[in-house]
Amino acid sequence: MSYCLEKVSKGFVSGRRELTVLREVSLELGGEVPTVIQGASGSGKTTLLNLLGGLDAPSAGRVLWRGEDLGGMSRVAAARWRNKQVGFVFQSYQLMPQLNALENVLLPGWLGRRNAEERARELLGQVGLGERLDHLPRELSGGEQQRVAIARALIQDPAVLLADEPTGNLDAENSEAILHLLLDLTAQTKKVFILVTHDDSIANRFTQRYLLRDGELKVAGT
Ligand SMILES: Nc1ncnc2c1ncn2[C@@H]1O[C@H](COP(=O)(O)OP(=O)(O)OP(=O)(O)O)[C@@H](O)[C@H]1O
Ligand SMILES: [Mg+2]
Repeated sequence: MSYCLEKVSKGFVSGRRELTVLREVSLELGGEVPTVIQGASGSGKTTLLNLLGGLDAPSAGRVLWRGEDLGGMSRVAAARWRNKQVGFVFQSYQLMPQLNALENVLLPGWLGRRNAEERARELLGQVGLGERLDHLPRELSGGEQQRVAIARALIQDPAVLLADEPTGNLDAENSEAILHLLLDLTAQTKKVFILVTHDDSIANRFTQRYLLRDGELKVAGT
């Protein structure tokens, strides 16, 4: 499996100023080694994940999925690719407040798959929420809401899981549990797993580590 960034640059124009966030970043993700990208606040971690997940387009360079340039896909094809191949987990969970746990997990599945409900129940069981199916987000703790978000990210059985500071709002014990769950579930199903964080103690748990600084991506420790 090949999934890579090829000399990707990204800049934003706001008003009359132009800000370059990423400069010719290249990255090859292919194996099943969980990857962490570390960087300070504002270094471009979320920007990088958005490009990887096709939520935003590079200013220059290409994002290649199995040799295909995401930038060359139509909007519909890109949306379909994202829905099928990519799961996202965010710091702020981003659950729909009016839907219960089961319904939140089902949401991406409604767009696609049969037997989604059975699968959603199974996933919620795997993340330890088998008894919380009909709880609304506000009736769940932060860690529990993040477990729902993880189940939602996995419902389409994507090839890639992208996590943006997924434990940023959790205490140490819950962070550890969520990280363990993410590493475990992605290893079991051989997904490409990429997590971004500013936090050393999280990054230390990964074998493949990169550092994002001044728009450049380097292997950590070099
Ligand atoms: N849509 C946008 N328009 C203009 N500037 C943007 C936009 N998105 C991000 N930026 C700028 O790009 C830089 C990188 O932002 P990004 O959100 O990727 O950082 P980050 O590493 O995820 O930070 P944090 O750890 O705080 O989440 C910031 O300076 C930000 O202000
Ligand atoms: Mg961010």
